[in-house]
Amino acid sequence: MGKRMSLIVVTLVSLAVAVGGYEWAEGGGMGQKEGEDWFMLQHSKHVVKTDAGDMRVVKGFGSRFIKSSIHIGFINMQPRTLFIPQYLDSSLILFIHRGEARIGHIYKDELVERSLEMGDIYRIAAGSAFYLINTAERHRLHVICSIDTSDSLGGHTFQPFYVAGGTYPTSLLSGFDRQTLSTAFNVSEAELGKMLTRQREGPIVYLSDTHSSSAWSIFLDMEQQQRLAQMRKIVRMREEDIDAENEQPTWFFRKLLISVFGKVDKRVQDKRGKTKTGPDSYNIYNRKPDFENNYGWSIALDESDYSPLSHDDVGVYLVNLSAGSMMAPHIHPRATEYGIVLRGSGTIQIVYPNGSLAMNAKVTEGDVFWIPRYFPFCQIASHRGPFEFFGFTTSARNNRPQFLVGANSLLHTIRGSELAAAFGLNEDKLKRIVDAQRESTILPSAVMRQL
Ligand SMILES: *[C@@H]1O[C@H](CO)[C@@H](O)[C@H](O)[C@H]1NC(C)=O
Ligand SMILES: *[C@@H]1O[C@H](CO)[C@@H](O)[C@H](O)[C@H]1NC(C)=O
Ligand SMILES: *[C@@H]1O[C@H](CO)[C@@H](O)[C@H](O)[C@H]1NC(C)=O
Repeated sequence: MGKRMSLIVVTLVSLAVAVGGYEWAEGGGMGQKEGEDWFMLQHSKHVVKTDAGDMRVVKGFGSRFIKSSIHIGFINMQPRTLFIPQYLDSSLILFIHRGEARIGHIYKDELVERSLEMGDIYRIAAGSAFYLINTAERHRLHVICSIDTSDSLGGHTFQPFYVAGGTYPTSLLSGFDRQTLSTAFNVSEAELGKMLTRQREGPIVYLSDTHSSSAWSIFLDMEQQQRLAQMRKIVRMREEDIDAENEQPTWFFRKLLISVFGKVDKRVQDKRGKTKTGPDSYNIYNRKPDFENNYGWSIALDESDYSPLSHDDVGVYLVNLSAGSMMAPHIHPRATEYGIVLRGSGTIQIVYPNGSLAMNAKVTEGDVFWIPRYFPFCQIASHRGPFEFFGFTTSARNNRPQFLVGANSLLHTIRGSELAAAFGLNEDKLKRIVDAQRESTILPSAVMRQL
């Protein structure tokens, strides 16, 4: 028993070494420094880069005082490519920014497949094996995702585990003893050796015929039910071992191997290519804006709109400001916000709670910023065109922003002599100032006001 356990521990450790864990060196410019850089997340790293695509991760903010477990991932895939089966120790909320995708993942021990299109939001739980395919013949796929590391093995880092693979990346099957695996698959060790060393092209590969004999295609085809039944037995055996000594790693096997290898035959699809079980995706572009006026619109998705968001307590939002318009100064009383510029350019102003300017930065497409809970801020579109940004908030409950300016502002609600006294003004003067802006939430530009 003890020996088997340590074998598994060694397997886990060697896996982590093999794939290298997505780790960041401490003190790489994040954490201590304040000022403008503090709110722009510039520390990004390619975690996957192959001919067929790449994945870049922008590290979320983290210091001793303010912890955030969210990183932002950008996945780019060429037409007809596959992000090979893997699972992470972090949960993902995917947003299909451009292109279309097919995603397969394990949900409650079944393989769920979904066709995703532009604007779709979809969640993959930590420990749930998944693969992603760009099905398009000509178009690239661009996905933006939040990576929530709160359940991760290494705290602030995250770790992929590849189910299928070869020498690069390493399949987690490689960790098993060859003889055991040979028995399990009912093939010779030599054949097995071929299967586990052929894949050298990295985690994102082309889905062309010439590659169809590689390890991952065996996974996708899944014709070998007999062999896989054997696999299940081995997994169960090991699981019992682990259970006896330590309950923790059980999910590792149960969620991954038994389900992946055991239930794939149960995949049932309806006419639209959707599996009947498991959660659906949610298309943010098909939703009616929660707020809209002549100067722009905004959408905020919380768990009441899309229940999978409740698992990680993460919300999703999308804002479109017309040229020159501004999201009125406001604060988030409950959540930290992450933003990614999708289109256009603009300015983000952030103020410390003590009333001094923290950042006044120009941002353009692809930039990532964050705003800590309680910090007042506003976003302003440049005059050149619309400014579109998307992002995540660290609360899936209706996170009512508190506006500081405009017809729906706090000042409007409080008003009265106390407020006037606090500003050192008489009530009439204060009323004139507070009432001057008739619009709320999204405000017109200075130029338009003068017209
Ligand atoms: C293993 O393979 C052999 C020959 O290919 C076959 O006869 C046998 O039934 C297989 N065993 C299992 C358990 O699938
Ligand atoms: C944002 O608004 C502009 C017009 O101001 C419009 O052209 C664009 O399509 C909008 N974006 C989305 C995603 O609807
Ligand atoms: C406000 O707080 C920030 C951050 O703690 C600090 O850098 C700044 O000096 C403070 N400003 C004032 C006027 O106290």
